[in-house]
Amino acid sequence: MLKTLRSVLRFRPIQLQPADRALTRAACVEDFRRIARRRLPRGVFDYIDGGAEDEVSLRRNVMAFRRLEFRPRVLCNVGAIDTSATLLGQRQPLPLVLAPTGYTRVASPAGELDVARAAAKAQLPYSLSTMATRSIEEVAAVSGGRKWFQVYVWRDRGLLKDLLARAAAAGYEAIVLTVDTAVLGRRERDVRRGFTLPPKVGIGTMLDGAVHPGWTWDFVRSEPIMFANVTGAPGADGTEAVNIAQYVTDQFDPGLSWRDLDWFRDAWNGPIVLKGIQTVADARLAADAGVEAIALSNHGGRQLDGSPAPIELVAPVADAVGDRTEIICDGGIRRGSDIVKAVALGARAAMIGRAYLYGLGAAGQPGVERVLEMLAADVRRTMALTGCRSMADVTPDLVRWRGGTP
Ligand code: FNR
Repeated sequence: MLKTLRSVLRFRPIQLQPADRALTRAACVEDFRRIARRRLPRGVFDYIDGGAEDEVSLRRNVMAFRRLEFRPRVLCNVGAIDTSATLLGQRQPLPLVLAPTGYTRVASPAGELDVARAAAKAQLPYSLSTMATRSIEEVAAVSGGRKWFQVYVWRDRGLLKDLLARAAAAGYEAIVLTVDTAVLGRRERDVRRGFTLPPKVGIGTMLDGAVHPGWTWDFVRSEPIMFANVTGAPGADGTEAVNIAQYVTDQFDPGLSWRDLDWFRDAWNGPIVLKGIQTVADARLAADAGVEAIALSNHGGRQLDGSPAPIELVAPVADAVGDRTEIICDGGIRRGSDIVKAVALGARAAMIGRAYLYGLGAAGQPGVERVLEMLAADVRRTMALTGCRSMADVTPDLVRWRGGTP
């Protein structure tokens, strides 16, 4: 009996570091989300995880993918699978981009540097947010990979011009112009918690910090978190804790219109990705304006609640403008099979925000790397199980909407 027992007993090596434990135990993005929720203070986790108002769009972004069903083909000789795709004229191993997310250092001390390094390792484009907590130059110094710079339009066009010039000088390939943030969406989790950037240290934060010692220790040891791209800009660099909604109202220009795209063509000599397109009509205007790509996006359900799930827009937008501009599907992607579904419906690539932030919050850079590896393995497996050898085989007849086309 002892012999039998000995032959079946297998103990995992004990992992003392929480990040190592997370890496061993997480089998999917949702696992990383659960670990990040335990590791991060509530306010920080909710800032990352939450959406606007009733969070209907946030939930639908994810659930819409569940309504898509594969129509798998068999006996297709899937011995060799090529998951690569071309985006903005360049080949990359996977049709995936890392979306811009502001204030990433609340999730890990190195913040954007961790994410940019993981993206470069996976040879995927990384978009640095205007609201980043590591600067354009700091990120370029650690990542020789493909980098895009996300732009919010400052009232101060001089500051904006300067940011674009810095991004060009630091080798950023494209700008991502986010157009869904005329004002900030009402993120009620943040309102309830009185969340500011950087998080204010009051009694609540101290108590929360005491039950999340790993995060708190990192937070107090590292240099102050600031809006690193605009250090020194009075009232704008985050040296004073700011309420994000007020910040957006004070700093960003709600008067932006289609005509302003000409200004960007003059100020930026490279591809423009318009992020936040939510209708076929606007996709047409974007294609008419000649932008190289559009990101169908509702900002991960953080802006207008009740806006459409991006995956539901992919097919109609691809029909309307797919031959004139590249389409990126942004929002709700939690598995590689979601990426395959987006490509099947006509997207050139998918974009992820929270998926990598959960990895970062749970385990730092290795957490982001693991999330990207999981998604890559998912894409390959999904292609094998659906009979696709390359992205050319990933076509609209590979999927159908359960309960009818939206
Ligand atoms: C964002 N997003 C975002 N977008 C942008 O253009 N500029 C920004 O600074 C930010 N900041 C930001 C912070 C956090 C914490 C999140 C979660 C998201 C939106 C982001 O680029 C992307 O559109 C969504 O994250 C996509 O949805 P998923 O992948 O998170 O479901």
